[in-house]
Amino acid sequence: MSRIFYLQASPRAEQSLSLALADSFLEAYRGLHPADTVTVRNVFQADLPPFDGAVLAAKYALLQGQPHTAAQAEAWKAVERIAAEFAAHDKFVIAAAMWNFSIPYRLKHYLDLLIQPGLTFRFSPASGYHGLVTGKPAFLALARGGEYPPGTQAEAFDFQSRYLKTVLGFIGFTRIETLTVEPTLGDPGLTARRLEEARARAAEIARSF
Ligand SMILES: Cc1cc2nc3c(=O)[nH]c(=O)nc-3n(C[C@H](O)[C@H](O)[C@H](O)COP(=O)(O)O)c2cc1C
Repeated sequence: MSRIFYLQASPRAEQSLSLALADSFLEAYRGLHPADTVTVRNVFQADLPPFDGAVLAAKYALLQGQPHTAAQAEAWKAVERIAAEFAAHDKFVIAAAMWNFSIPYRLKHYLDLLIQPGLTFRFSPASGYHGLVTGKPAFLALARGGEYPPGTQAEAFDFQSRYLKTVLGFIGFTRIETLTVEPTLGDPGLTARRLEEARARAAEIARSF
């Protein structure tokens, strides 16, 4: 039995194309693995502590090899809880909108909390950076208003998939399956067709996830 972590990064509920695709993926997956559990977190509803003050000082203390003060240790617990919840899962599904060519700010906030030395990666001058979230697959369901096809000039504007793949790779992921629904602004018939194509491909990926 696997524990799935489903991270949602669109506030648009049933209007959201990225959530629609991720939901389809999970429906196909759960049909094959009915005993698996799914934890759902939407970053727009999650309680994400501000990353400043004592929390930020606690991160710098770790980076500089200094012990935490009592206030830093207390503030750091919120970060440890987020990393512990993430690490307690076996497989990851992330649905994300494209906002200004990148990811929504609430997902960036979540990732800023999650990606920490000693929790999701480690560093040593001798061996460099190593991700600590290893041997776990991720499925990314992305939606964009425009189109950013590989090999076109528009691809250079896609900091959404590139950023997510980079940071997930940084913390240890090696299997990252990505599907996009695009364009989602424009001809509704075209969007519907692209969603159906992505859903069919998602069902295939679900078989080996
Ligand atoms: C604040 C904001 C910024 C956006 N920026 C872009 C953008 O840079 N490029 C783009 O193609 N679409 C952009 N869009 C459109 C969304 O990517 C599109 O509506 C997509 O379907 C959102 O994902 P969702 O349907 O899962 O919410 C933006 C939408 C919002 C609300």
